[in-house]
Amino acid sequence: MTQDELKALVGQAALAYVVPGSVVGVGTGSTVNCFIDALAAMKDRIAGAVSSSEKSTERLRGHGIRVLDANTVDGIPVYIDGADEIDHAGNMIKGGGAALTREKIVADKAERFICIADQSKLVDTLGKFPLPVEVIPMAAAQIARKLRALGGQAVLRHGVVTDNGCHIIDVAGLQIVDPAATECEMNQWPGVVTVGIFARNRASVCLLGTPEGVKTLNF
Ligand code: 5RP
Repeated sequence: MTQDELKALVGQAALAYVVPGSVVGVGTGSTVNCFIDALAAMKDRIAGAVSSSEKSTERLRGHGIRVLDANTVDGIPVYIDGADEIDHAGNMIKGGGAALTREKIVADKAERFICIADQSKLVDTLGKFPLPVEVIPMAAAQIARKLRALGGQAVLRHGVVTDNGCHIIDVAGLQIVDPAATECEMNQWPGVVTVGIFARNRASVCLLGTPEGVKTLNF
């Protein structure tokens, strides 16, 4: 099976976690695009979606799925999103698609985070995928220096302005052995908008696409 077929498989499987009559939180990325396409079949059985990016909003609306303003929705049963890496405890690196801030906001509204990913995303230790950090533009050089002091190779993602008008620094070479502590530390730095470590908002479930089918990991 190709990677695209695995993404389609988990996108379809995620429908089983959508609570009929409720609002669903929707992430961003190529795997989530498969989920959005599958969700179109049950659009009349949900109250709508809260979206984590302009791209996902456009795709949801293209299918006639109602997109709600996050401020009008109190809590949602499930948030469905992909990941760049996920470990065996449900901690993730996210932000490859630069949507990490809105993803974390919507994930924080949700009772459960359902991660959908192909098997290449499962890792023992987070950090092989460069960690995205969204920053206020005037703090970029200062934050990059702090990240280098931790041993990372920090590079500004050229030409990218997020949906929030901010920049992304990608940090390679970090071995993130304690994701919650690293997330907490970086969150304190002035100018950091969002760190792409999702430990406080880690996954409850991962639907992992494998050639043998969908493997369900419960955390
Ligand atoms: C976007 C994300 C995505 O979930 C992550 O990059 C995975 O994307 P894909 O499903 O395309 O591999 O965090 O900001």
